Amino acid sequence: MRRLFIALSLPDEVRDRLSAISGGVPGARWLEPENLHLTLRFLGEVDNGLARDIDDALHQIDAPPFELTLTGLGVFTEGKRLITSIWAGVESNDTLKRLQAKVEQAAVRAGLPPERRKFKPHVTLARGRIENTPKLETFMTGHALLRVDAIPVESFTLYSSHLHQSGASYSAEITYPLKR
Ligand code: 2AM
Repeated sequence: MRRLFIALSLPDEVRDRLSAISGGVPGARWLEPENLHLTLRFLGEVDNGLARDIDDALHQIDAPPFELTLTGLGVFTEGKRLITSIWAGVESNDTLKRLQAKVEQAAVRAGLPPERRKFKPHVTLARGRIENTPKLETFMTGHALLRVDAIPVESFTLYSSHLHQSGASYSAEITYPLKR
């Protein structure tokens, strides 16, 4: 069994720009730059047979390259008070939505149950049990105007996730080119 997900990788300079703002928030565990990505579909623990079927279905996806813009910051919460992640937002993008829908279809065709949650594209910067302190406020307002324009997306990637005590790290397993 392997823990898998499908995501867009980010160019090194984009990862470095995002990592450069990390820090100064109590309770936040920041992702290493090499682990920053935009998830299209979390697959979870998958056996080798299912992984092969998913790979076959992903190879059949026909979708064009495009550009992506990151804009602003947001948080995900658990209950009313606890913040569990800080992320960079993604400017609304129909080509991205269509690609994500095709990836979702491929996952279901391969035999996975459909994802019920609405797709909310984001790049997670930090996870943890983050309290809503003035330091968090300062961080969020200080970087509210974050914008990374015109990031080229030429492929999508099947990643494996490795859980450690200090957090997760991710390895690119297979890259699927987008076709003009
Ligand atoms: P996140 O960044 O918002 O935490 C690998 O774990 C990737 O899959 C992460 O980017 C994570 O999103 C995403 N993901 C989606 N659903 C998940 C789940 N139930 N458990 C772990 N990761 C999930």
